[in-house]
Amino acid sequence: MSKVNAVVYTSNTGHTYEYAKMVAEYTGLPVYSLKEKNKLQKNSSVIYMGWLFAGTVKGYRKAIKRFKVAAVIGVGLCGTGELTEKVRISNLIPENVALFTVQGGMNHGKLKGINKLMINALMKSMSGKSDMSKEEAERLALLRQGGYFVSRDNLADFFKWYNTNNI
Ligand SMILES: Cc1cc2nc3c(=O)[nH]c(=O)nc-3n(C[C@H](O)[C@H](O)[C@H](O)COP(=O)(O)O)c2cc1C
Repeated sequence: MSKVNAVVYTSNTGHTYEYAKMVAEYTGLPVYSLKEKNKLQKNSSVIYMGWLFAGTVKGYRKAIKRFKVAAVIGVGLCGTGELTEKVRISNLIPENVALFTVQGGMNHGKLKGINKLMINALMKSMSGKSDMSKEEAERLALLRQGGYFVSRDNLADFFKWYNTNNI
């Protein structure tokens, strides 16, 4: 892997931004929002971080057009380390690119527009199900209650990967 130059992120309600700052602090790399992509040279090697949106990593497709993405961190409501295989397939992330998922949270107060509508529709359709499994009921409760789960511990696997690979 070529030496990584920066951390680039896309965040909607702030969880991914919080994680991006932690990664930047740990690695000593500069951190940029994907909107600031022109501040970085084309083909720079980056750690890309985006929030999970219906199984996709927001901004990933745009990021690969400009940068060499060395690793991807998806921030979702799912548990840390969950969904990685699904996310890899849905986003066409090559096998040689390291992929991590970390739990961010759900802040209903910060959601707007289409994102708010989508979450409300999802909660409605989930709650209408008559034979809900225990897992589905737990997922719905988490979605309804929301919460903030950002923690440096959730980045442990990423830090291990970074220390082993960025030499
Ligand atoms: C419309 C919408 C779709 C979402 N889809 C997923 C998903 O597929 N998987 C998941 O784990 N989290 C999903 N989430 C939860 C977000 O990824 C989570 O709230 C994340 O922490 C947001 O990061 P941010 O604060 O940086 O925007 C979704 C949230 C919204 C609003």
